[in-house]
Amino acid sequence: MNDTKISEALAERYGADIPVPGELAQNPALQTMAARGSCRWFRDVPVPDDLLRALCAIALAAPSKSDLQQRDIVMIRAAEQLAAVKALLTGQDWIAQAPALLIFCANNRRQRLMHDWRNRTFVNDHLDAFFNASVDAGIALAGFVHAAEAAGLGCCPISTIRNRAADVSTLLNLPDHVFPVAALAVGYPQFPSPRISMRLPLDTTLHCDRYDETGLRAAVDTYDTARNAHRPMTAQRQPDRFGTTEPYTWSDDKTRQYAAPERNDFGAFIRGRGFDLS
Ligand SMILES: Cc1cc2nc3c(=O)[nH]c(=O)nc-3n(C[C@H](O)[C@H](O)[C@H](O)COP(=O)(O)O)c2cc1C
Repeated sequence: MNDTKISEALAERYGADIPVPGELAQNPALQTMAARGSCRWFRDVPVPDDLLRALCAIALAAPSKSDLQQRDIVMIRAAEQLAAVKALLTGQDWIAQAPALLIFCANNRRQRLMHDWRNRTFVNDHLDAFFNASVDAGIALAGFVHAAEAAGLGCCPISTIRNRAADVSTLLNLPDHVFPVAALAVGYPQFPSPRISMRLPLDTTLHCDRYDETGLRAAVDTYDTARNAHRPMTAQRQPDRFGTTEPYTWSDDKTRQYAAPERNDFGAFIRGRGFDLS
């Protein structure tokens, strides 16, 4: 268990004190969640299959839209299959060392099959079908991360699985209306405590009664400065295009990232898997 106090973890995360009700101060589950961080460096120790299976069962206990249960997890178990999936996840060297990989998939296929079996036309073939299944998969992913971290494991989601969505679908035998949302690397962490990654000030992403952007630009500037003081970025994206800047901030990094096309073929892939998306 991570023994960083909740209030200390939140102060580090948000750069401000966030009062925590006294009765929660020692809650171990919340302590782990507050002080969590993605893990990309693992010990060379296998994760037992029955542990992964139990954590998947716990993750799939998370809420599901209308109880439709439109998400599946593919546990990669065989060594050759693990190597084949990793070979598709190019551009991130740390993935090679990940002891286990899970693929979280959206699944709108079961629903459509049940319509066939019960002889009732599926008349909701529009964007919502894609969206509901994607959200369900994301909720299960989050559930798995929290369960795994509470069990002493480290995890890191991998969105680049979608860079090779068609190849991944072939490798994993995913049929139409089932698609990968994210992979998740899982293992025993090399370092005892996760590194806390700062978040935007709480009042930027938490609104009361109605959405409010007052002071947003100043809040992002403040966050950039605080985040650089806490842990500066180690590499600058696309230096050939944008040069190098000092300071190099979170908002520099995110805008450089999305100034380059990323997965702009994904819509075509999803349509090709049978979704209408209108
Ligand atoms: C859907 C999703 C996809 C992600 N994909 C990647 C990835 O491909 N590579 C990576 O290193 N981290 C990935 N991450 C991890 C984020 O970079 C990480 O959550 C973020 O930097 C905040 O850090 P923290 O989780 O340590 O708080 C992903 C996270 C999510 C939720």
